[in-house]
Amino acid sequence: MRNVTKDNITDVFMDYMSKEADPRMHEVMGSLVKHLHDFARETNLTHDEWRTGIAFLEGCAAIETEDRHEFVLASDVLGLSSLVDMLHSSVDATSSSVLGPFHISGAPPLAVGGDMKRHFGGPILVAEGTIKDTDGNPISGAQLDIWQTAPNGLYASQDDDQDRFSFHGLMTVGADGRYAFSTVKPVEYTVPTDGPVGDILRACGRHPWRPSHLHYIVTAPGYNSLVTEIFPSDDPYLDQDTVFGVRDDLVMKYVEKPAVEFPDGMEISGQVNEPFLYVEFDVMLSTADTLKS
Ligand code: BEZ
Ligand code: FE
Repeated sequence: MRNVTKDNITDVFMDYMSKEADPRMHEVMGSLVKHLHDFARETNLTHDEWRTGIAFLEGCAAIETEDRHEFVLASDVLGLSSLVDMLHSSVDATSSSVLGPFHISGAPPLAVGGDMKRHFGGPILVAEGTIKDTDGNPISGAQLDIWQTAPNGLYASQDDDQDRFSFHGLMTVGADGRYAFSTVKPVEYTVPTDGPVGDILRACGRHPWRPSHLHYIVTAPGYNSLVTEIFPSDDPYLDQDTVFGVRDDLVMKYVEKPAVEFPDGMEISGQVNEPFLYVEFDVMLSTADTLKS
């Protein structure tokens, strides 16, 4: 097409692509460009606004490092990460939730009943549960990759004052599928706002807060892996998570317990003479690739 117009440019774009080269690429790229063109036409996008968008992408790229994933963060605050998760969740399994940009691989082993808080102070939380299949049978040998922020609201990768793997642990469950660990009650925190994503949040009049949570990646041979989070039912940001990660079945009551009830078999049993919080959260893994409706 020689005479490209604002009305035919989308069709011209589609004509330039070959479906045979890669049918899925044709479908995804074609849809993306259709929506992009419609967006520009609908909003009558100006040159200045287009340049602002390009500068946003350049700004994300400029601060991207091994520990800083601004593009992932952009996808998170736009709701795209959560939407993709929900499109591909299994019907019967525990809901998935955002991975976020702060997971680091290679966490040190944490024994069942181990302590993740080490020398850090703050309200003690004991988390316990069973990793099960969708029929309720325990999954022997499942692995739980756990991470959370320190009490200052920062992940280890954001904070030079923490060890690389502080508040990270990799637990392998036994034949009963049970996991348990002690930690400090997670705090609500803000996603990083010192980069281009922070500029977008401010420009849209949005706050950067996430409700407090524990992150889990649960894996077991023969099962679909699950990336998820647990939220306490009294968190003030449950209804306004800036990355859209809250699902009903991930909201749990953290029960207050007296010191005398501290569970046996925990690494810090006998050392705790203060009340603590307790949460029981079972995780169900699916084998089939059934989708949530
Ligand atoms: C997180 O929970 O670690 C997180 C998720 C999305 C964006 C920023 C942080
Ligand atoms: Fe987090």
